[in-house]
Amino acid sequence: MTAEPLEIHLEERDLDRSLRDDVRAGLTADPKWLPPKWFYDARGSELFEEITRLPEYYPTRAERAALGRHASRIAAVTGAKTLIELGSGSSEKTRLLLDALSGQGTLGTFVPLDVSVSALRQSTAAIAADYPHLRVRGIVGDFTRHLDRLPAGGRRLVAFLGGTIGNLLPAERATFLAATRAALEAGDWLLLGTDLVKDPGIIVPAYDDAAGVTTEFNRNVLRVINRELGADFVPDDFRHVAVWDAEREWIEMRLRAQRPMRVRVLDLTVDFAEGEELRTEVSAKFRPEGVATELAAAGFTAEELWTDPDGLFGLTLARAI
Ligand code: SAH
Ligand code: TRP
Repeated sequence: MTAEPLEIHLEERDLDRSLRDDVRAGLTADPKWLPPKWFYDARGSELFEEITRLPEYYPTRAERAALGRHASRIAAVTGAKTLIELGSGSSEKTRLLLDALSGQGTLGTFVPLDVSVSALRQSTAAIAADYPHLRVRGIVGDFTRHLDRLPAGGRRLVAFLGGTIGNLLPAERATFLAATRAALEAGDWLLLGTDLVKDPGIIVPAYDDAAGVTTEFNRNVLRVINRELGADFVPDDFRHVAVWDAEREWIEMRLRAQRPMRVRVLDLTVDFAEGEELRTEVSAKFRPEGVATELAAAGFTAEELWTDPDGLFGLTLARAI
C-alpha cells in the first residue's frame, strides 16, 4: 500500500510566521538564542541522520539496542492498534516496534508526526512499502503546538524517541507531557526515550564529533534563516561549541562568533561581539527517578523502565491514568 497524502497542520505561511517570531524573539534577547526545530530542513534532516551513524553519537545505537530487547514486551503489554510517533525523523528504529506490533496482529495504523516535510515524505513512503498491511498517515506538524490533532480512539501508543524530549527546557517539557496526556484516553500508552546522565567524557564528544558533522548541523540553522528570511549570516564564521552544564545536567549547543559581526535579518540589525555565543539547543540527560516524577506530574504512571546493556539510554513505558 502507498502512504496516504501527508496531512499538513503546518502550512508554509504558518511556518514562516513562527520562524519570524522566533528569530525576532531570540536574536533580540540577551543572551541570544534560537529554538531547535529550525535545524530540520531537508539538509538538516540529512545531517541528523549522518550524526546518528557517527562513532561518537551513542544515543541512537543504545536506544536501538534497548528497543530490540524490549519491543516484543512493549507490544504484548500495550496491544496497540495505533502507533503515533512524535518527531519521527526517518522512523528507522521505529521499525522494531512496527515489527513487534504487526507480528502480534494488533497494529493497523502508523501515524508519524514531524516538522520536516522531507523526512516525513521519505519515511512514510519507505514504511508503507515495507509494511503493506499498515495504514500510514504522516502528519506535518509541531509537537509543541499540534497534539490536539492526533487521531482519536483505539488503544494508542505514542512513541517519543531519540531523547528529543531533552531538547525541551524543563517548563516546556511539563507543558508537552501535559498536552500529550490531554490528547490520550486513560489506559493509552507513552513510550519515552531519554538519554541518561553519565560521564561527560562520553556525552560531550557525541555533540562535538571529530569529523565536524555536528558543526555543520548546528550552522544549518543559520543557513535556514538566510534562505527563508534573506538574512546575511556567514555560517562558517561561527564556531560550534558544546558545553556540559553539570548543575542542570544538560549539554548546551552554541554558535560562537569568531569575529565581530553585524547581521541583517527582517527589519533587525543584530550585532555580535567577537566571542559572543548564540544558544541553539540544549539536550538534557535524565535520571530514572526524574523521568518517573515528570511523567507522574503529567498524569502518567511509569510502568517499566529499561536501558540498553551498557545503561546509556532509557526507555520508559508509561500509562495514561
Ligand atoms: N526520532 C528520530 C529523530 C530524532 S531528531 C530518532 O530518534 O532518530 C528530532 C526530530 O524531531 C527531527 O526529525 C525533527 O525534524 C523533529 N522535530 C524537532 N522539533 C520538532 C517540533 N517542534 N515538532 C515536530 N517535530 C520536531
Ligand atoms: N535529539 C538529539 C539529541 O539531543 C538532537 C541532536 C543531536 C542535536 N545532536 C545534535 C541537536 C547536535 C543539536 C546539535 O541528541
